[in-house]
Amino acid sequence: MKKKYLVTLMVAGAATFAACNSGDTRRNPGKTYVPDMTYSVAYDAYTKNPVTHDSLTSQKPVEGTIARGHALPDHLTEADTSAYIALQSPFTFNDAGLAEGKRLFNIYCGICHGTQLDGNGPLYASGKFAAMPANLKSGAAYIHMPVGKMYHAIMYGKNMMGSYAAQLDVHQRWAVLAYIKKVQSENGGDAFTMGEGGAAKVGAEAAKPATADTTVAKK
Ligand code: HEC
Repeated sequence: MKKKYLVTLMVAGAATFAACNSGDTRRNPGKTYVPDMTYSVAYDAYTKNPVTHDSLTSQKPVEGTIARGHALPDHLTEADTSAYIALQSPFTFNDAGLAEGKRLFNIYCGICHGTQLDGNGPLYASGKFAAMPANLKSGAAYIHMPVGKMYHAIMYGKNMMGSYAAQLDVHQRWAVLAYIKKVQSENGGDAFTMGEGGAAKVGAEAAKPATADTTVAKK
C-alpha cells in the first residue's frame, strides 16, 4: 500500500516538472523589479526610430559641423607622406595636457618604446618582439623627426609597429606627440612649440576655439 502511494507521488512529481518545462522559449519576463531600469524608455542606439527622418536613432553630425573640442579632418591619406611631414598640431597643451600625453604614451607606446622613450620597452627587452622600436630619444632621425611624420606612424603604423588610430582619438594622438616632443626638446631635440602659449601652428584647417581645447584634462 505504502509503495503504491510512493509511485503515484513520483509520477505526479515528474508530470509537474514536465508541465513547467514545455520546451518553448519563454516570452514572459515574469516579475520585474524597477521596470523603468530594466527596460529602457529611451530608444537604443542601433534600434529603428519612428521619429527621425531616416529611422535611425543614432544621427550623423550635421554636415559642415564638428563636435566641440574636435579638430577638422585633415583629408590626408596614407600615401600622402610628404603632406604629413608638414602637418602640425591643431592643439596646444598645458602641463595637464602633457601629463595626459605621458599617461597615454606609457599605456600605448611604452610597452615597446619604453617609458624612457629609449626604445627599450618591456616587450622588446623580453625578446618577444623582434623589431627594435624607435629610440625616440637619440639619433637625429627621431629627435628631429617632423611631428606630422610621427602622427602618420600613429595613424597608419610603421613596418612592425601597428596603427594606434583606433586606440587614440585625434586629440589624444597629439597629446602623446606633444609629450614626446617635450621630452625630445629636453634631450637635444628642437625647441618645444606645442605648449600652451607656444608657437603651435594653427593650420588653415585646424579648428581652434581659443580656449576650449587646450587641455585634455578638461574632457
Ligand atoms: C608593438 C611595439 C610598438 C608599439 C606599442 C608602438 N611602437 Fe612605435 N615603433 C615600433 C617599431 C618596431 C618602430 C620602428 C619601425 C621601423 O622603422 O621599422 C616604431 C617606430 C615609431 C616611430 C618612428 C616612425 C618613423 O616614421 O620612422 C614613431 C614616431 C613611433 N614609433 C611612435 C609610437 C607611438 C607614439 C606609439 C604609441 C601610440 C607607438 N609608437 C607604439 C614599435 C612600437
